[in-house]
Amino acid sequence: MSQFVTTNEIKAAADYIRERTKYRPSVGLILGSGLNSLADTIDTPDIIPTGEIPNWPVSTVPGHVGRLVIGELEGQSVLVLQGRTHFYEGYSMDRVTLPIRVMVALGIQTIIVTNASGGLNPAFQPGDLMIIRDHLNFPGMAGNNPLRGPNDESIGPRFPDMTAPYDPALRALAHKVGDEAGIQLREGVYAYVAGPSFETPAELRFLQFAGGDAVGMSTAPEVVVARHAGVRVLGISTVANLALPDPPPGLTLNHEEVLEMGQRAVPHLITVVRGVLRRLDETL
Ligand code: HPA
Repeated sequence: MSQFVTTNEIKAAADYIRERTKYRPSVGLILGSGLNSLADTIDTPDIIPTGEIPNWPVSTVPGHVGRLVIGELEGQSVLVLQGRTHFYEGYSMDRVTLPIRVMVALGIQTIIVTNASGGLNPAFQPGDLMIIRDHLNFPGMAGNNPLRGPNDESIGPRFPDMTAPYDPALRALAHKVGDEAGIQLREGVYAYVAGPSFETPAELRFLQFAGGDAVGMSTAPEVVVARHAGVRVLGISTVANLALPDPPPGLTLNHEEVLEMGQRAVPHLITVVRGVLRRLDETL
């Protein structure tokens, strides 16, 4: 393996997927921790375990099953990634974001990313959904940007614009769908940290001060790579827990609780994602 993911590695993965499915997806969907059930509603899917795809970074985290589910959902041809990979698992940033490169190679033009996060905004409650308006890519700002390394000009520019990383029309549609379904949607800034340790109180205070509304360990690198290639992005975060610098005494955090609390938001998340897919044409 060379130091950076190569065009050939991306092509091999995309070719493999194309051969394994009759569908030609135009929308990619990445499901975060505990959010897998959305893919279970896809009719007659083609399912590919990610471990069988050449060069794919295989997820090692409980709650991340690791497969592609490809099929039709609300009139759209979708490719759903159940079980993303994280930087903290030991993969490099460009390997973590290979699935986005492969989606681009498959012709996908819109990506919906979901995740579980901790709520930094004191108004947020566990179970809330937050439409991501912007992100803070702390590892990226400190040198671990997924675009570090050779740039393929045929995909995107060396210095890609990031003024509107999360598509305004898709965000507006998500809010419309939420309003019409009676679902309260938050909107805010997702602070990306590498993890895997949860944040100290001082770190949480810093993230709040920097403008973060929710904190999590995924998504931002994927979005940078998608935007580099000109793909439109909708980001939705499920607030699984409070991530406040001064929690009530005795409150600690573990992964099982995060998964369990995240479940509360799942029915709402499914309603919003399905509604957005159904009305995607309104944003084109
Ligand atoms: N911090 C970081 N990542 C997370 C959290 C958190 O509190 N909850 C879910 N993912």
